[in-house]
Amino acid sequence: MAENFDLIVIGSGPGGYVCAIRAAQLGMKVACVEKRATLGGTCLNIGCIPSKALLQSSEVFHQAAHGLKDHGIAVGEVSFDLARMQARKGEVVGANTKGIEFLFKKNKITWIKGAASFTGPNAIEVAGTAYTAKSIVIATGSESVPLKGVEVDETRIVTSTGALELDKVPGRLVVIGGGVIGLELGSVWARLGAQVTVVEFLDRITPGLDGEISKAFQQSLTKQGFKFKLGHKVTGAKTSKTGVTLTIEPAKGGAAETLEADIVLLAIGRRAYTEGLNLAAAGVAADARGLVLTDGHYATNVPGIYAIGDVIAGPMLAHKAEEEGVALAELLAGQAGHVNYDAIPGVVYTWPEVANVGKTEEELKAAGVEYKVGKFPFMANGRARAMGEMEGFAKILADKTTDRLLGAHIIGPDAGTLIAELVTAIEFGASAEDVARICHAHPTLSEVVKEAALAADGRALHI
Ligand code: FAD
Ligand code: NAI
Repeated sequence: MAENFDLIVIGSGPGGYVCAIRAAQLGMKVACVEKRATLGGTCLNIGCIPSKALLQSSEVFHQAAHGLKDHGIAVGEVSFDLARMQARKGEVVGANTKGIEFLFKKNKITWIKGAASFTGPNAIEVAGTAYTAKSIVIATGSESVPLKGVEVDETRIVTSTGALELDKVPGRLVVIGGGVIGLELGSVWARLGAQVTVVEFLDRITPGLDGEISKAFQQSLTKQGFKFKLGHKVTGAKTSKTGVTLTIEPAKGGAAETLEADIVLLAIGRRAYTEGLNLAAAGVAADARGLVLTDGHYATNVPGIYAIGDVIAGPMLAHKAEEEGVALAELLAGQAGHVNYDAIPGVVYTWPEVANVGKTEEELKAAGVEYKVGKFPFMANGRARAMGEMEGFAKILADKTTDRLLGAHIIGPDAGTLIAELVTAIEFGASAEDVARICHAHPTLSEVVKEAALAADGRALHI
């Protein structure tokens, strides 16, 4: 007879492993199926963690090579050992994935090793063995979107996975797609010496971000040496032993030109991944793009089958997947789990960092909401000056009548940490005035947030 569980989670990424842990905490008998050799999904193995390890190493190198002189510190010639950087990245990833294995053992979660496929509404098969469960959660994540005419070989034409594994700094790196992956991984290789050119279909980079922030972001990256081909599409790629020749055309039509690259990074978005899952055997509905369809409580159209994370609608972010994992486990235990989709932060871990929560100006305009803007530059912040990191600003959007915080956008040093305060404020329904009246330690970068909140009422103190 098939082994039976209260809950089987398919996929051990941030959505799946967190859901499994929370369900086990709540007393369920839980199994998690993972086909990769290590736990943690895209995020820990080939996403968030390895990319941040390389961003950190390349930033430390860049600081040592270019950032010390201003502080009166002289060092000899600074060089780097890419093999060691990559090995360190591997160690960071290994420690994290082993950490999840430890948490599974601690919470008595069974790791079923292999690829799951549905055999019926409450039954799956993994490597020829049948398992059943009262509830099954699909948390199978996402994969990178392919582009016709640009065949990925993960050597010359790479996705993020290959771009994290390069054993040599490319002389010329062409990134297709001016989104989060392209700009983060572009930053890694640019800092280590690559000439990075970004080909973006739209006439702006990072389309989901507030327009003013995107513009400042592009200016900053341009100063760092990035080149941008906005409003262009790639129509073909020819790979040779020495590199890749890309053919590009203006998106609106016009003369084609060619771009030479040593490495091409294809990063035009990610899509839901359900390959081999045999959704049809269970009768689970997905949309035309492959996203598993769910209701407000993560239930699919089939009773007892749920889905969370990148495989369903919403931002493809690790912390969004985690929150959904917790909420669903609590709902299955009869509690009132929920996720506030208006308070999910987004962070781009470049330097300067870019962080946001809530609505952009463009979204408020489109919705006809009357709002006020408070802005404050890092240039006018004492700590930023002491650090020598004066680029960027914080921008707060509040309802014109009620003063309620609607959105917050920061480009600047440590923006990803600074945004947390504004996520909390939005979660608690705070006004700009509430944030402005909170005592912020001096001298800290967080005073930029307070001043931006004051500026929403025209009374910033230090500008
Ligand atoms: P995933 O993490 O994709 O996990 C799904 C797991 O399911 C995989 O391990 C897969 O092997 C397994 N699986 C699939 N099918 C089966 C099957 N049939 N049987 C068994 N197992 C199966 N997000 C952030 O918030 N911050 C970041 O800094 C960040 N950086 C990123 C950098 C890169 C380069 C990339 C690619 C992504 C990044 N993301 C980041 C996005 C983040 O990785 C995803 O949003 C997150 O991993 C989604 O979690 P998930 O649990 O839905 O799925
Ligand atoms: P993205 O959606 O962020 O950006 C894709 C970009 O490619 C967009 O600007 C889009 O206009 C452009 N594009 C689309 N088709 C194109 C074409 N044919 N030619 C040229 N440009 C084209 O997607 P990306 O960067 O691949 O990242 C995928 C997801 O992974 C992100 O949306 C994010 O959710 C997640 N991620 C999150 C990170 C973080 O939180 N720091 C880091 C990395 C990834």
